[in-house]
Amino acid sequence: MTHPVIAGRPTVQVHAVDQQFERADPCTLVIFGALGDLSRRKLLPAIYQLMKERLVDEQFAVLGVSRDEGQTDDSFRTAMREALGASDEVHGVDEALWQELCQRLFFVSADLSQLDEYAKVSERLTEIERDVPAERRNRLFYLAVPPSVFEPIVSNLSKSGLAPRTRTAEERPWIRLVVEKPFGRSLETALRLNNLLLNLFAEHQAYRIDHYLGKETVQNVLVLRFANSIFEPIWNRESIHHVQITTAETVGVESRGKYYEEAGVVRDMFQNHLLQLLALTAMEPPSRMGANEVRDEKVKVLRSIRWLSPEAIPKNAVRAQYTAGVIKGKAVPGYTEEPDVAANSTTPTFAALRLYVDNWRWNGVPFYLRSGKRLKSRSSEIAVQFRRPPHLMFAHTTRAEMLPNTLVMRVQPNEGVSLNFQVKVPGAACALTSNIEIAPVDMEFNYAQAFGETAAPAYETLLLDVMIGEATLFTRSDEVEAAWRIVDPLIRYWETNAPKRMPTYAAGSAGPREADELIEADGAEWREM
Ligand code: BG6
Repeated sequence: MTHPVIAGRPTVQVHAVDQQFERADPCTLVIFGALGDLSRRKLLPAIYQLMKERLVDEQFAVLGVSRDEGQTDDSFRTAMREALGASDEVHGVDEALWQELCQRLFFVSADLSQLDEYAKVSERLTEIERDVPAERRNRLFYLAVPPSVFEPIVSNLSKSGLAPRTRTAEERPWIRLVVEKPFGRSLETALRLNNLLLNLFAEHQAYRIDHYLGKETVQNVLVLRFANSIFEPIWNRESIHHVQITTAETVGVESRGKYYEEAGVVRDMFQNHLLQLLALTAMEPPSRMGANEVRDEKVKVLRSIRWLSPEAIPKNAVRAQYTAGVIKGKAVPGYTEEPDVAANSTTPTFAALRLYVDNWRWNGVPFYLRSGKRLKSRSSEIAVQFRRPPHLMFAHTTRAEMLPNTLVMRVQPNEGVSLNFQVKVPGAACALTSNIEIAPVDMEFNYAQAFGETAAPAYETLLLDVMIGEATLFTRSDEVEAAWRIVDPLIRYWETNAPKRMPTYAAGSAGPREADELIEADGAEWREM
């Protein structure tokens, strides 16, 4: 008999913390692709929030660049005001604050595939930065552009003289580039992009974004592990049975069918977000919270992941695609019925993997990773499942009946941490030692309850970090390459061995049966999503 989990009442006492944020350096944020989805949905709301919290400098300005002709400063401002109104990350736009932001927004139309068009960007920048002393004319170029135009833009940006290479991170004014994912679509293209980028710019100028790293709860993995002394001694193969990392979404491909057909779930979620979660969970303690120290340790983990050989893939990896189903009471179409998706598409929208980190700490401990769209619920978490007690002295409970201790770091929603353990069920009927009944309970920490506020959106954290020059939460070139080395063989295997029948799962379900079989073969099971 398995017992239902009894949720414990939150008993976390938060000690007063005096949060002090560093303020950003003065800079002009140049957004390439300024009228796109990312700019509207993520960047502008993040800028607004940073202004609200007085974290940007008085001379901060935004120059939006896009090829849309006929756009002006005014029409750009109107579009951005609409974007703020529609954002669920901004709770009510303060008109006075908007006026302040509005005056700092500028626009120039330019075709960035043409080198001579950069003169227009340069002119506008000179105009905007007229009153800024030369050493404070820092520039942040945000490449919110499709991957297909990434290479020509990086080359032109350098050739135009707008963004020179700087020798050291301390040089002023600074020039930084933010590069959005996907960073390449294979190991080969990622290597080429890194080569190009590092030929023209220095590593300290390149900020490769993985927005998962900007999530508070993801950063909390490091704090939980390394600011406490109780976890590290048991954070290894002696005590841990396995680790499950899940990022489940209820949304489908929305309006991104074209992109998703090219990407699929492995490029979209595993190469970056899931492997980053794995690296943070499995890495050794860095000597300090510095960009290179943290990234060095993450790279070591990624490089220790066992190669997925063609023989190993069928046993350790499952992919699938969603078919029509029902989510939150609403009928939704299958993947192949989505706009811009081929009717015979074999692009996976779900994958589950069993990976091993071949090092002293993790030898033999499986890391199960799964991610998919149109699943039963939206939930991202890292669950560390500990080994069962070696011997049980309670007559009425067998080892198999007892839920193993599990530490769950919930990335979203209900951001927090829970630890599950066994307790004695109270009551006279159970007073006899021979009759002791055991039930699992959860010890809960919930961010919103404990701190009375929800986590800052990832882009806010990350944009501020770039303006400060803090690179810890961005992926370094060797890290990106190490992650590609893991997934590239898998993607290639799947693309060259088209399945006779693509495994499927109904939208609104917990994923395909094949994923259950993968984990059940080891005597474990997926956590409820
Ligand atoms: C993006 C993917 O990187 O992450 C999307 O391209 C996915 O397909 C998104 O929906 C998930 O992010 P979040 O923050 O909503 O979990």
